[in-house]
Amino acid sequence: MIIAVDGPAASGKGTIARALARHYGLPHLDTGLLYRAVALTVERLGLDPSREADAVAACDFDERVLADPLLRSDAVGQRASIVSAHPLVRASLLQRQRRFAAQPGGAVLDGRDIGTVIAPDATAKLFVKAAAQVRARRRHAELQATGSSIGLDQVLADIRARDARDEGRAAAPLVQAADAAPLDTSNLSIEASVQRAIEMVEAQRNRGVR
Ligand code: CDP
Ligand code: CDP
Repeated sequence: MIIAVDGPAASGKGTIARALARHYGLPHLDTGLLYRAVALTVERLGLDPSREADAVAACDFDERVLADPLLRSDAVGQRASIVSAHPLVRASLLQRQRRFAAQPGGAVLDGRDIGTVIAPDATAKLFVKAAAQVRARRRHAELQATGSSIGLDQVLADIRARDARDEGRAAAPLVQAADAAPLDTSNLSIEASVQRAIEMVEAQRNRGVR
């Protein structure tokens, strides 16, 4: 069973994907971390994220960077959406994600293009969304908890800029797959979001097309 969870920044996709993985006893991959690792490595090497060759050079990153707390920062998220627009960066990270999805027993992956590119034949696909204002408030609270002094207005502007880049790029843009179930978490608690997600996965599974 492969579960694909896609959606924009701070929509709740990671929280939902982790909960689904626990519920079904499956391994989980947050694919955004891979793009964040490339972005942080580009920065540390003094390279330019907007140059495709520079970003590709960082795809072979040191695995230890995946545990770096800086990975979760707003600035790295922004740069991740710059490196992720390069087709050769996406191609470089593709096999790693496909291998994870192909594990015996299955897997849960969350990102932007899981249902459209990485696992188009997934058993279940969710497209998680929420109003930009709500997402900015959630991400702002998270960043404050890590000691960041970034303002809410800046977080909202950054989320909007990232949405525009992720939706507007030519390579694997952020878009709801035709066969994905939409889940708007704007007015849902975490518990309610997870409950709804499980119901949607069950409905897609029982439909039994895959
Ligand atoms: O957690 P959040 O939604 O803020 O971001 P993330 O999932 O860590 O992703 C960071 C950036 O990586 C996104 O803005 C995308 O540009 C890129 N990304 C992507 O292009 N494809 C994916 N499957 C996952 C992330
Ligand atoms: O992975 P993504 O960036 O889409 O979002 P997330 O990391 O799962 O969630 C972003 C923040 O929103 C986290 O602090 C979640 O606890 C919170 N959240 C929420 O308040 N209500 C929800 N229904 C879902 C997530």
